[in-house]
Amino acid sequence: MSPSLFFAAIFCGSCFLLFVGSADAIEEWEWKRLTRKRLPKLRSGKAIDAVSAKLADQSASAAKPDVTNHPSRWKGWRSASVQSVKDESLDCRSFVFVPTDGEPFPPFLGGQYLTVRLKDPSSGKNVSRCYSLSSGPDEPHYRITVKRVPGGTMSNLLHDTIDVGDRIEIQAPKGRFHYSVEESQSANLEPLNLVAAGIGITPMLSMLFQSLNERTDRDVNLFYQVRNAVDAPFLAPIREIAKMLEATTGVRVHLWFSKPEDDDLRPGDSVGRLSAERIVERLGHHRGEYLICGPDVFMNAIAEGLIECGASADRVMFESFGGKSKSAGALAVPACDPCSDASDVDESNSDDSVGWNVTFQTSGKSASFEAGMDGLLDVAESLDVDVDSGCRSGDCGACVRRLLSGEVRYAETPECDVEDGEAVLCVAKPVSEVVVDA
Ligand SMILES: Cc1cc2nc3c(=O)[nH]c(=O)nc-3n(C[C@H](O)[C@H](O)[C@H](O)COP(=O)(O)OP(=O)(O)OC[C@H]3O[C@@H](n4cnc5c(N)ncnc54)[C@H](O)[C@@H]3O)c2cc1C
Ligand code: FES
Repeated sequence: MSPSLFFAAIFCGSCFLLFVGSADAIEEWEWKRLTRKRLPKLRSGKAIDAVSAKLADQSASAAKPDVTNHPSRWKGWRSASVQSVKDESLDCRSFVFVPTDGEPFPPFLGGQYLTVRLKDPSSGKNVSRCYSLSSGPDEPHYRITVKRVPGGTMSNLLHDTIDVGDRIEIQAPKGRFHYSVEESQSANLEPLNLVAAGIGITPMLSMLFQSLNERTDRDVNLFYQVRNAVDAPFLAPIREIAKMLEATTGVRVHLWFSKPEDDDLRPGDSVGRLSAERIVERLGHHRGEYLICGPDVFMNAIAEGLIECGASADRVMFESFGGKSKSAGALAVPACDPCSDASDVDESNSDDSVGWNVTFQTSGKSASFEAGMDGLLDVAESLDVDVDSGCRSGDCGACVRRLLSGEVRYAETPECDVEDGEAVLCVAKPVSEVVVDA
């Protein structure tokens, strides 16, 4: 046997279930978690009785801490150390972070992201970007998986300069695109449908892990569009997870290859492009929640198609890695926390920001706010004013700056922390002349 192969044996009634996995395909801690979670079910050799599963799941969730107010959550930046680095495909690399201060990382909700900050040695400036967490939400470490973007600053810095033992700054996990605990505890349990293309698989993995942690009796469908096996991050572990779970749980993995190479396909794989019609056809219904992540064109087509096929618009959610999720046309948007009653939230949809003068005091530059701009960050970038950014949707806080004079409004209350006298530049639009500290 090749040294990179290992066996996981689990006792099942009078027999042993033997899983053969590649140590390179799936992390050992993931194997341990998944096999431990599945043990009661595998032992019985048949589906766990629904009532006891529900009771067990309810008692587990009753003991669960509130993730958003968890005592170990922190504000601002915190140092983390790189524990391991691993290539997941030709151009995608995972980085596992652990705390440097002895305090544990708080759990998060599957689907949420980390904001990561590094100093760019070529410019001496800080750069921050958001990366969905690809690890399970209650692991002692955080894992992100980064696709190298040609010409991109942060993805190349991470790939080329960051290695085991290096330090990096991170913010606590955030994001409104996440697994719904309420949904999973609902008496009328509907399927969880995860739809990803390429690097969009990252938030799906943490949601899949969370779903498996939360309860055992839910149908979970993972649709994954890839070009071919070499290009597809996490393809091997996903195949292993499917092999391990499909016989005994409601987890189903559906793989779509647009340009498969000779040896890429396995029984059950599909060739071509995933579409809403194909998803509904494969499911045999349009029920449940849909969480979609991938290139914008892919998400638009799938989300709009699902709604046309009968899926409820408020159950179709997506995450745009371009950070423009909220302006993506007719698409349903990530589930929004109840909006506060802040008086600066604009519901009029009017365009009265256009034409106001925006001055950046430190850099001594100014320009008018133009039609089509999403926020003051666009003005800063048009003038080459140095303002950091990450999510571009009011969540991560990287672009928060002091507002020295004038007033702004928000179409939706930003999720990030913002003090009086500050503005979240990516989503703040002027309603008067404004002067920003940048
Ligand atoms: C909520 C959220 C979650 C995300 N999760 C992930 C994830 O899990 N994995 C992941 O890989 N990404 C993820 N992203 C995307 C990530 O945040 C970055 O946007 C991505 O890594 C690119 O950043 P960068 O600094 O490398 O590129 P940037 O420097 O921001 O460049 C962006 C674009 O500009 C182009 N560009 C930059 N410089 C030049 C130049 N000199 N000439 C020509 N073109 C140029 C690049 O080619 C690229 O197309 C996520 C984004 C969000 C908002
Ligand atoms: S860029 Fe994330 S809040 Fe503005």
